[in-house]
Amino acid sequence: MTIMAEAQIEITEGCRLPVLLKNGGGWHIAEVLSKKDVNGKPLYYIHYEDFNKRLDEWVPEERMDLGKLELPKKDAKTPKKEPGKVGNESMPSSPERDLMNGSATNLFTIPLIDSTPILPSGCSGAMLGGAMKKSIGNSRKRKLEEDNDSLDSTPQLPRQTGSMVAHHDDIVTRMKNIELIEIGRYRIKPWYFSPYPQELTHSPIVYICEYCLKYLKSNKCLERHLAKCMFRHPPGNEIYRKNEISFFEIDGRKNKTYAQNLCLLAKLFLDHKTLYYDTDPFLFYCMCVQDNRGYHLVGFFSKEKESTEDYNVACILTLPPYQRLGYGKLLIEFSYELSKGEGKTGSPEKPLSDLGLLSYRSYWSQTILEILLNMKPNEAGERPLITINDISEMTSIKKEDVISTLQHLNLINYYKGQYIITISNEQIDSHNRSMEKRTIRIDPKCLHWQPKDWSKRGKW
Ligand code: ACO
Ligand code: ZN
Repeated sequence: MTIMAEAQIEITEGCRLPVLLKNGGGWHIAEVLSKKDVNGKPLYYIHYEDFNKRLDEWVPEERMDLGKLELPKKDAKTPKKEPGKVGNESMPSSPERDLMNGSATNLFTIPLIDSTPILPSGCSGAMLGGAMKKSIGNSRKRKLEEDNDSLDSTPQLPRQTGSMVAHHDDIVTRMKNIELIEIGRYRIKPWYFSPYPQELTHSPIVYICEYCLKYLKSNKCLERHLAKCMFRHPPGNEIYRKNEISFFEIDGRKNKTYAQNLCLLAKLFLDHKTLYYDTDPFLFYCMCVQDNRGYHLVGFFSKEKESTEDYNVACILTLPPYQRLGYGKLLIEFSYELSKGEGKTGSPEKPLSDLGLLSYRSYWSQTILEILLNMKPNEAGERPLITINDISEMTSIKKEDVISTLQHLNLINYYKGQYIITISNEQIDSHNRSMEKRTIRIDPKCLHWQPKDWSKRGKW
């Protein structure tokens, strides 16, 4: 009887039902976004409600509780926005909620990366860069095509329709389109859609040259490319080197192809950012670890040459195999070191992703606590005085972020007509423990860089 009943159920887009998460994550309500048949077996693309989109996946019926299927509501024509979303923006939301409701935990338990080394020894070196833009004129389109033609068998021009600005969370761009990428020694499962050329989406693996970031449809194409590719590090200037860590500054106008390829790669792990095809207004700071084969890309951030809103970072990314090792905070620390060099305060572009917010909060907290705990009483033995402005100037962290951090840490108290900062012993202990773990730091002495005045004409 039950089997008969289930057999009659048609699971269509918009249906909701419990789905079994991988790795013992239990049942969780999910919405069906799409369906496909693989070898005569249906698979459903589902989104777990309240969880980040990066957990969306294709599942077979065996992982679905068909008995609890809810049919789509009649007026629900478009896929529902993720909770916490405002307009087209994903939640700067609440990582705490993610953590509490378990989505962040699920993130850890789901194996995102197959980090098995797969390339024997070195592919040869490279160059190319990344952020991306809305609409582009014909001349610019032509230029893009030329750029791509000039690279051997690169499959076509990236799809212009993939811009985050253009797609408004439609069903196509809401679904992951690349199954797996191979870059350097790593195979990585993408988290989100990225507008790589359509034909690449049919390849089980997209191969990316780790040095120039060119994308190829097969291992053979990659091997052919590597035999020719001259690069072993990103283009642009190496502006920082300490031990095996280097930073390269890349101008999105001078190294357009690299910049665009970097943006395409980054989009696979960034859900909420505009994909800029016009990379001219951006600089890209790529962080690499060096070994005897070359410089391996770990992460990067992009930065507008001129920001009217005092943004010092547009997009920031640590490639998944390198995540949770402190590199994100190193990128953030570097971005504030550049702001110090400019004599400005800065802030990351909004909205922040859930992981972006966690990383920034952690960086801001540690940086501000470090300053507060290093303050000494004055000669009269009175409590030291500091203003929000002082903290902001010393760290280049924008005032608003200093205030929100102090509030988040619950350090501000109002006492006898004035604001005082009180830090508990537990907070000091936990801060000291975190700082012990923060072993890689930016050494300002190793930064060789002068800010440019981009407002002067002709500099772009
Ligand atoms: N779950 C819980 N906490 C996390 C996670 C996670 N998956 N990842 C990072 N964190 C927290 C950690 O608590 C850590 O703080 P702690 O040392 O106090 O514990 C802090 O974030 C930073 O960790 P790092 O190891 O330094 O950061 P990582 O190298 O993992 O990079 C980043 C962080 C860049 C946000 C990375 O997760 C990423 O690339 N995500 C995808 C792209 C993205 O969301 N970028 C930010 C968008 S916002 C913007 O671009 C302005
Ligand atoms: Zn290459």
